[in-house]
Amino acid sequence: MKLTNYYVLFASILLLSSCNQKKEEVKITSLKDSYKDDFYIGTALSEDQIEEKDVKVDSLIKKEFNAITAENIMKSMFVHPSPDKYDFALTDKFIAYGEKNKMFIHGHTLIWHSQLAPWMEKIKDSVQMKAFMKDHITTIVSKYKGRIDSWDVVNEALNEDGTLRKSVFLNTMGERYLADAFKLAAAADPKVDLYYNDYNIEEPAKRKGAIDLIKKIQAAGGKIDGVGIQGHWRLASPSLEEIEQSIVEYSSLGLKVAITEFDITVLPNPWDLKGADVNQNFEGNAKMNPYPEKLPDSVQVKLAERYASIFKIFIKHKDKISRVTFWGVHDKQSWLNDWPIKGRTNYPLLFDTQLQHKKAYNSVMQLKEAKK
Ligand code: XIL
Repeated sequence: MKLTNYYVLFASILLLSSCNQKKEEVKITSLKDSYKDDFYIGTALSEDQIEEKDVKVDSLIKKEFNAITAENIMKSMFVHPSPDKYDFALTDKFIAYGEKNKMFIHGHTLIWHSQLAPWMEKIKDSVQMKAFMKDHITTIVSKYKGRIDSWDVVNEALNEDGTLRKSVFLNTMGERYLADAFKLAAAADPKVDLYYNDYNIEEPAKRKGAIDLIKKIQAAGGKIDGVGIQGHWRLASPSLEEIEQSIVEYSSLGLKVAITEFDITVLPNPWDLKGADVNQNFEGNAKMNPYPEKLPDSVQVKLAERYASIFKIFIKHKDKISRVTFWGVHDKQSWLNDWPIKGRTNYPLLFDTQLQHKKAYNSVMQLKEAKK
């Protein structure tokens, strides 16, 4: 063989091996690696996922995410089932899982009117409520002091019009329960980040309510470090302007902003249908469950575009955003298969029921790839 041919052969081998390397690099990228300079990428874990029951799901979680929230097991009905009984068995496992995998660990949630233990609903007056809050918050936050990175101290205290929700907490203690909760949490673990978390707080009236609430907590001497925008969103709403404006406004209060329960429903909502009675029974109604077998490509593309345009905003405001957490790992696990109507097939996340990347995953990844 001529010398020049050797050169050509050698150059081709080099080229091939560098291509393979590139392929390899593409293969090992993940959400958490692609966004490592921007914010944490989190997921909510079910009980089975905390217990590592499914090896494939488990390796996907470890590969893609660097922050975790417990989807249910830390809610008061599970952790504090009766006045003098706490059950930390699963929470201990959840924390151990996060520590073992060096993940950011978020606590969800201390004071919430839903998924309350029945005995808590019966609390009658401010004396009892004060005692409950002191015991509940101090016990839980102290137990995991230094091991949990941030807490949802109060979840969903607002109505849609921005007024305070008439929960058992408000009814017994009045609005001072809000600042008290933050003070108790800060006293139990002065270093942990404390969040107010809610849905629809990117919408103007509720956003105003959230800002007032936060200011009141600050004025009363409560330590509040962040606001959690849940991010249970739809294909067409909220608008990108509302999302961006909210991030900017919350951040200007001196708070970190986290997107804490991100998912995008592709199904119709009962309350979107004009004239529909929300109490009507929609179960088994084919109109409300249009894609029982497969998501049509056209909707898959819409979902991918929606995720990309929202993530563009997150990237633009990465200096304000601490974490973006998805509410679940894959579509099969999503709570949106059963809410607000039971037994539907929804497609709200980045991984499908087979744990494969959806177009939405690629569109979120491409935003970062394009910059490299
Ligand atoms: C949901 C869970 O995903 C479901 O499994 C459970 O049945 C109900 O609660 N806002 C919150 C979350 O703060 O805790 C909720 O999680 C979804 C809405």
